[in-house]
Amino acid sequence: MRRVLAWYESAARDLPWRQPDVSPWAILVSEVMLQQTPVARVLGPWTAWLERWPTPAALAAEPSAAAVAAWGRLGYPRRALRLHQAAVAIVERHGGDVPRTYEELLALPGLGDYTAAAVASFAFGARHVVVDTNVRRVVSRIDAGVAELRPSARSRRLAESYLPSGSDAPGWAVASMELGALVCTSRSPRCGACPVADLCVWNAAGRPAAAQSVRPSAGWNGTDRQCRGALLQALRDADAPLPRSVLVQSWSDPGQADRCLATLEAEGLLHGKDPVTL
Ligand code: ADE
Repeated sequence: MRRVLAWYESAARDLPWRQPDVSPWAILVSEVMLQQTPVARVLGPWTAWLERWPTPAALAAEPSAAAVAAWGRLGYPRRALRLHQAAVAIVERHGGDVPRTYEELLALPGLGDYTAAAVASFAFGARHVVVDTNVRRVVSRIDAGVAELRPSARSRRLAESYLPSGSDAPGWAVASMELGALVCTSRSPRCGACPVADLCVWNAAGRPAAAQSVRPSAGWNGTDRQCRGALLQALRDADAPLPRSVLVQSWSDPGQADRCLATLEAEGLLHGKDPVTL
């Protein structure tokens, strides 16, 4: 544990949301963006988002469509809506200040266990187990000797068993996350650079491959996700609302586009049925 903290001091990336003067709101935004998008793709949008909406009140004062439009190419745009809903709730329930406790954070719309624990830890120094896929992989390998446990009561208990007492907890959370991101990676772990390789049960066992078969990737071309992304991008690029017929023709399979438009509408990501706008 100490060794991982020391490794973090020398090896961690200098990411802007880890600076000491960053606001709790900026940390909350970073955690929502980082959940499903790699760091390199988050840096630009995170900076632009906070320049435009430096506080929850600034975002809450605008329509949710503005948040969806600004989400750009981060993917999974429902997160933009959820962030907007969280901003509104922060203004209504907490006078515009991001709440400090895990329980209050968890009660905000769209915030799950991970985000509530991460914000309580990184913005307010609280002691919480913060388990993302990186942390889960690190403890799976060091302790359980397997390449990667799935999210489960067992992997949760394992992560809990590493939670340090008192003020080291946020430091451990970010350091173990970083170890998983930079060294203890899923596909090509760099065990030679790992500060705890000698303690790692998985390494000692010869790094056995994951026993559970990993689901083959669904691919990307032609998926509904790609189609939804393309429709949202077409709307972002358009200066004016687009007729539905034009919008669906912008995709190679208009029938699929029509179906995907319906799902985007049902999720509240669009305005207007015909013409359609963000
Ligand atoms: N630093 C703090 N939280 C992070 C996260 N979720 N991903 C990468 N770096 C982080």
